[in-house]
Amino acid sequence: MSDQFVLRIFRGDQNGGEEREYYVPAIPGMVVLDAVHYVQAHDAPDLAVRWNCKAAHCGSCSAEINGMPKLMCKTRLDDYKGQVVHIQPMRTFPIIKDLVTDVSWNYEVAKKIPTFHPETAAPFRMQQWDVDRIQEFHHCIECFLCQDVCHVLRDHHAQDEYFGPRFMVKMAEFEMHPEDRADRVPQLKNEAGIGMCNVTKCCTEVCPQHIHITDNAIIPLKERVADRYYDPIRSFFRRLGKK
Ligand code: SF4
Ligand code: F3S
Ligand code: FES
Repeated sequence: MSDQFVLRIFRGDQNGGEEREYYVPAIPGMVVLDAVHYVQAHDAPDLAVRWNCKAAHCGSCSAEINGMPKLMCKTRLDDYKGQVVHIQPMRTFPIIKDLVTDVSWNYEVAKKIPTFHPETAAPFRMQQWDVDRIQEFHHCIECFLCQDVCHVLRDHHAQDEYFGPRFMVKMAEFEMHPEDRADRVPQLKNEAGIGMCNVTKCCTEVCPQHIHITDNAIIPLKERVADRYYDPIRSFFRRLGKK
């Protein structure tokens, strides 16, 4: 018998479910999403899976593979030679069916963040240093794997208190733009809950775009909040009624 992989894929919905076993032939170059499509084509046409680009660009095919949040289209099946491959939906978001979760909460969070707000609509020049600093944030594909892994959202279910790492990246993208005039620091401290992040860096580890979420977005934003609210000299003037 030719080489094959054993997949255990979660099947179920909000009422519960279980892993079911499927067998997929080992074809060179196969990624996990190919294997899921093989199962759909041969054994389980009703298996629900979300995907679009199959090129690690759209952020749709996020799942948990042997417990790690990953893009199914960017994860080679070969990496699991000799292992059973467990494929589960992202745990942090409500399940819709099988591998598909409801990530709409993220879009509601996005609406709360003031967008880029320049002083005028006139064209402007940027220093290369400023371009470089925010460029990596533009690489986000909104896969929400960082949101899935962050323990504040995943284990403590603090969705009402913390926007999550993806939106710290978004806020950093605007805040660090030299032409932006909106002030998001009070929102970062309060509604966005940046203080909830205790810098575990799990978000950075799973980001398929290799964005330095913690070091380049979250920590500099934390510093802005600390400068504004916890700097003793500023605090003295604030108590005197000055900004
Ligand atoms: Fe995905 Fe990275 Fe964007 Fe988070 S920051 S949503 S892990 S691409
Ligand atoms: Fe969560 Fe990342 Fe902070 S995983 S706790 S947002 S460093
Ligand atoms: Fe688009 Fe995987 S299908 S990122």
